[in-house]
Amino acid sequence: MSSSEDGGRAKRKAKAASLVPSRNRLPISNERKNIIAAVQKARALVIVGETGSGKTTQLPQFLFECGLAKKGMIAITQPRRVAASSIARRVAEEMGVKLGNEVGYSVRFDDKTTQSTKIKYMTDGMLLRELLSDKLLSKYSVIILDEAHERTLRTDVLFGMVKAIQKVRSDLKIIVMSATLDAARFAEYFDGAETLYIPGRQFPVRVYNAIERQEDYVDAALVATFQIHVDEDPGDILVFLTGQEEIETVEKLLKEHMHELPPNASQLLICPLFASQPAAQQQKVFAPAPPNTRKVILSTNVAETSITISGIRYIVDTGMAKVRAFNPKLGIESLAVVPISKASALQRLGRAGREAPGVCYRLYTEDGFSSLANVSEPEILRCNLANVLLTLKASGVENIMEFDFLDRPPRASLIRALEHLFALRALNSKGELTPEGHKMAGFPVDPSLAKVLIHSKALNCTAEVISIISMLSVETVFFSPHDKREAANEAKRKFVSHDGDHITLLNVMRGYQAVSGDKDWCIQNYINGRAIKNAMDIRNQLASFCEQGGISPTASAGSEVEPILQCFLQGFFQNIASLQMDGSYQTFSGKQVCHIHPSSVLFQKRMPLIMYHELVQTSRQYVRNVSSISLPWLQNTGSHYFNAANSSA
Ligand code: CDP
Ligand code: MG
Repeated sequence: MSSSEDGGRAKRKAKAASLVPSRNRLPISNERKNIIAAVQKARALVIVGETGSGKTTQLPQFLFECGLAKKGMIAITQPRRVAASSIARRVAEEMGVKLGNEVGYSVRFDDKTTQSTKIKYMTDGMLLRELLSDKLLSKYSVIILDEAHERTLRTDVLFGMVKAIQKVRSDLKIIVMSATLDAARFAEYFDGAETLYIPGRQFPVRVYNAIERQEDYVDAALVATFQIHVDEDPGDILVFLTGQEEIETVEKLLKEHMHELPPNASQLLICPLFASQPAAQQQKVFAPAPPNTRKVILSTNVAETSITISGIRYIVDTGMAKVRAFNPKLGIESLAVVPISKASALQRLGRAGREAPGVCYRLYTEDGFSSLANVSEPEILRCNLANVLLTLKASGVENIMEFDFLDRPPRASLIRALEHLFALRALNSKGELTPEGHKMAGFPVDPSLAKVLIHSKALNCTAEVISIISMLSVETVFFSPHDKREAANEAKRKFVSHDGDHITLLNVMRGYQAVSGDKDWCIQNYINGRAIKNAMDIRNQLASFCEQGGISPTASAGSEVEPILQCFLQGFFQNIASLQMDGSYQTFSGKQVCHIHPSSVLFQKRMPLIMYHELVQTSRQYVRNVSSISLPWLQNTGSHYFNAANSSA
């Protein structure tokens, strides 16, 4: 072994040793013995403890230390990828090992595990995918379903799957972890499993509500942040926002206005935190602020319960979150920014009182708080189920209607999802998985996109399709600073295709590839370098998936546009809308009124027929990532779907 490796190891061990005292102070460390005894005795166990008590980082280490990873790995699922990767990194540090050795993580498009990995943090989606190739999850001796209180669609489905597996594998241990007290449901589901409570520690948090309704919560968040910075004692600020775009807007605005701070004010260090963020940037969030500097963390609700950051004394709560919603009657899935629940508001507030008394600024009124729902509805009751149903089918679950759901989704949603899979020809008319469906399940993207990928082989445009899909998988790459909007628009014009956003995105990716990802090129062209680099990483991953699936990722349509859009139509023939007299559009499938989103290159253009990637509900119903299509193309796509739809109407 080289001396530099030795040095690296000594450094890691020293770092790990330095973390021991703070770990010993975590509430969970007092419970170590009880937890180990309970896990050894029980097959299923529920553990409840407040956010920050040490469940996610410490519990897997306890199990590892008492030998539970000898026969198989310990899996810990997380609803969010940013939590899985950042927590794995932290735990590797605590154990003094290289990330990817004893401790690793696996999230979509990013796998940091090796043969020696024993503790594996992963998204709930990744564990579901592993079922495709290993129906009994035989690699694992313990499966921890973490953040169960969040009730994400995939964690909910995993509940049913691991329960079924345990009937066959009596050696498998299941642990459910939750940050809220309503754990009885989970215990009951696992036939009366024991529940352990970890006593929490919480300092008081003073709450200030807005006096009147805020028209613009982004603006209000900005004002509140500056006000805290100027008026309040030291301590970091955590601002809850709804998504990457919004976070980047606030980041820019804060930076633009920073010079207006009084000359004696301390520095502000702005740290964004959202899902599709490169690891290096993520780490910045956890590092203590330099002297005479206040950290402002701009986060999605990942910081609500999944990730705990030390040093937070102030919370700015916009009261909003971005969620997926699905209308099974209309078959419309949308991303909507909606008010949070009371439970979420309380969790957010709690983030300020972990180490000392804190303050929470709610950007909504007291009445606003009273009108919030008590808890958010489980995702499975309001989501498009097509993706998970396809995974379930491909994992050998034949009768979806009889699946043991923790909360049974509405029958209409189940049927809608099965219809969608039938329309995509992933299922046949008897509801059985087709060979094509099996192939689709193997791709780490939604069934519609998988369909597009598979079809790209015949249309010889895989290179273009994977570029576009990877660009659609990240938030917008176009930068549009308030003060340079004209210049940014001018730069964007070079990429714009009159065919619409799909080809425009392709043009950007092509430009980026032509200069081999040059940073200056991004700056000159007002392209968000962070976002497009992400897209490029995803592109590489998709290319290797295609190769494995026997689809050459270099097959190219050259300058031809039609095959590319026709190819997308194979997966998105249900996302079509036609122009109305008044300039609005109406969807084919649900007869819904919608408008082209202002971010689209087809905004205010009157195209007779459009295909859209997604529908977003904000102040009105918008379609985003839109391309113009022509009617005859529809004859080649999903005609069995349209025929079935018409005959049943
Ligand atoms: O899962 P739970 O909410 O119970 O707590 P946890 O995520 O295990 O966090 C335990 C402690 O680890 C917290 O006090 C965090 O501040 C700390 N931690 C950290 O310092 N850096 C990380 N990257 C992750 C956790
Ligand atoms: Mg946790």
